[in-house]
Amino acid sequence: MIFVRVASFPEWREKARHLLLAGVPPAEVDWEGEGLFAEELPPPGVGRPHVPKAFMEAAERAACYRDSRRWGLLYRILWRIQHESRQLLEVSSDDDVVALRHMVDEVRRDSHKMKAFVRFRKLGDEYIAWHEQSHLVLERTAPFFARRFGPMRWAILTPDSSAYWDGKELRFGPGVARAQAPEGDEMEELWKTYYTNIFNPARVKVSAMKAEMPVKYWKTMPETALIPGLLAGAEQRVREMIRVDSTSLEERPDLWAARLLEAGAPLGELGEAVMRCRGCELCEKTHAVFGAGSPTAPLVFVGEQPGDQEDKQGKPFVGPAGQILRQTLGALRIPVEHVYLTNAVKHFHWEDKGNSRLHKRASPTQIRICRPWAEAEIQTIRPRVVCCLGVTAAQSLLRPDFRLTRQRGQLIESPLADKVLATFHPSYLLRLPDPEERARQRALFDQDIALAYRLSLEP
Ligand code: URA
Repeated sequence: MIFVRVASFPEWREKARHLLLAGVPPAEVDWEGEGLFAEELPPPGVGRPHVPKAFMEAAERAACYRDSRRWGLLYRILWRIQHESRQLLEVSSDDDVVALRHMVDEVRRDSHKMKAFVRFRKLGDEYIAWHEQSHLVLERTAPFFARRFGPMRWAILTPDSSAYWDGKELRFGPGVARAQAPEGDEMEELWKTYYTNIFNPARVKVSAMKAEMPVKYWKTMPETALIPGLLAGAEQRVREMIRVDSTSLEERPDLWAARLLEAGAPLGELGEAVMRCRGCELCEKTHAVFGAGSPTAPLVFVGEQPGDQEDKQGKPFVGPAGQILRQTLGALRIPVEHVYLTNAVKHFHWEDKGNSRLHKRASPTQIRICRPWAEAEIQTIRPRVVCCLGVTAAQSLLRPDFRLTRQRGQLIESPLADKVLATFHPSYLLRLPDPEERARQRALFDQDIALAYRLSLEP
C-alpha cells in the first residue's frame, strides 16, 4: 500500500499523474494515509497521460468537496478512464460517476450560496464578510467577488481559509473564528432597508427559506433579524399586495418575474404570467409565445422572437428558422428532453406588407422590458449551458456590446449558467444568398451547437 496525503487539487493532480504513469492501481493507494511510508512514491513511468478535459474540470470542482475520500474517488475514476473507457463519465448509472456528479453539484451549489449570501460590513475603508462554507469553495468563488467588487478592498473570512482583495491582487490566508469577524455597521441598515423593500409576504415559505438559505447563514445576514417582524405583519401586507398585483403587475414584468422567482413558481406559472403581460405595446398585436421543452433541461437555447409560424402555433422555433435548428439538433442526436427553446422577446413584431406579415426587429426598449421573462425561465430551469442564437439574445442577456463576429462560439462569463455561449441565429443562415458561404456558416453554427451539447453533458 502506498500512503499519500494531499491538501489541494494541484497536489492531487501531480501525485495522481505520477502514480498513474507508474502503473499503481487505485486499490494500492491510500489517499488519507499518514503511515510510515507516506509519500514514498514509486519511480514515475514515462510519458504524459492523456486525460479528458471534462474530467479534469469536474475533478477540480469535486476537489472542493469536504470529504477526504474525494482524492481516492478521483484517482479511481482517472485510472478507470485510462484502463476501462474514455467514455466512463457518460455512464450515468456508474457508482463512481454518480458520486462524482454529486460532489460536483454540491460544490456548485455551495459556491452559488456564497455568491448569494455573503454580506460585507464596512470597517474603515474595507469591507469584511464572514461566511460558513459547507465545502471548500472560497478559492474557487473569490474571483467572482474580485470582478464584481473590483474597486473595493474586501476580505471574506471563513473558518477554513480567508480571501483578501486589495483592488489588484487576490490573496488567501488561514481561517478565522466567528468571534474575530466584525459585527454591525451602516451596511447593515442598508441591507435591512433593501430586504424590507423586496420582502414579499405572500411568498414566505419558512421551510423553503431554510432549505435555500440554511439557518446557519441567517446569523451573518442582517436582514434575517427582521424576519419575525415581517412575518407578523405579513397577512395585512399580502392583502395590500394583492391589490397592487391585480392593478399594476401586468405592466411590470420586472417585478412580476422577480416575485414569481422568489416564490419558486414553476415554469407553467411563469408561462401564464407571460401570456397576461402588458409590459409593452407588442401585446396588443400578437399573443405571447413562451418557451417550450423540458423544465429541467441542461441546455437552453434563446432565440430572438417568435416568427409568423410561431405566433400562429403558439410554440417557439416551429417555422423555417426552427427547421434549421431542429435539423442540427437531430443530426447531433440531441434528445428532445435535453433542451429547452425560448426567445429574448416573447411576441412576434411585424409590419404589414399587404398579404404577409414581415418580421421587424424589436426595439431596445421592448427587448429590455421582456428580458426578465427569459432570465426567469433560465433561473427556474437552472441549465448547465445557455446558448444564445443571434445577436439580439446575446445583447439582451449577456452584454449590450456583444459582437457575434468576435465572440461567436466562445465561452462567456455570465451568471446565467456555468457555460454560456452564442452563435448565429438560424434565420441568418436562411438569408445568406451564396450557397458556399451558407454552407461555411452552417458548419460553424453546427459546430457551436455541438459544443453547447458537449458542455451540457459534462458533470
Ligand atoms: N426565430 C426565433 O428567434 N425564435 C423563434 O421562435 C422562431 C424564429
